[in-house]
Amino acid sequence: MAAQRKRSSSKSRPGNRPGETIRILISRTRVRQRVRQLAREIRRDFPKDTLHLVAVLKGSVLFLADLARELGGEVSFDFLSVSSYGKSTASSGEVKLIKDLDVSIEGRTVIVVEDILDTGLTLKYLLRLFEGRKPKHMRVVVLLDKADRRVADVHADYTGFTIPNEFVVGYGLDFDERYRNLADVCILQLPHAPAKK
Ligand code: IMP
Ligand code: MG
Repeated sequence: MAAQRKRSSSKSRPGNRPGETIRILISRTRVRQRVRQLAREIRRDFPKDTLHLVAVLKGSVLFLADLARELGGEVSFDFLSVSSYGKSTASSGEVKLIKDLDVSIEGRTVIVVEDILDTGLTLKYLLRLFEGRKPKHMRVVVLLDKADRRVADVHADYTGFTIPNEFVVGYGLDFDERYRNLADVCILQLPHAPAKK
């Protein structure tokens, strides 16, 4: 009875539209385990510091929320917003600051939390912006890395998973603002337009 109820709960329905298919690439269990490991690695490197987590809205929000709870010790966080892909699955290559951080990062141990590293142009822009603001330390943690797609010369200090060149949604990542609430990281296939580039 309980299992039946679980299977039919609204949480288990992905909410995909006709023609859009999704399949799991990284399960919620693997995500949870890896986030825990990443938190341990980061805390080991900075055992006593207040870790100031800085993330780009909105894709990194779920990752940051889980990471923050695994880190232990003193943690604070702040958000900024940059231009995104909108309805396209391909990067415009342009990065524009839409909303800046609320507080100064000067003298802080900053952990830049990114959902996914694709061309790397967003991260390159962020690192350049933040370096000028004189943090005490700055490190980058990304959950997903599409290493084959890299254009900018940037790398993450901590990487969750290296993934193939597929358009992924879930665990915060969207297509046209949808699918962010999926618990698993999934590959999205669009009708008549293969997501693979
Ligand atoms: P980059 O500047 O090309 O590295 O792109 C980084 C941003 O593009 C990410 O923070 C995401 O918001 C978005 N992005 C890149 N690949 C994907 C994807 O497969 N699914 C959803 N968003 C993506
Ligand atoms: Mg993003």
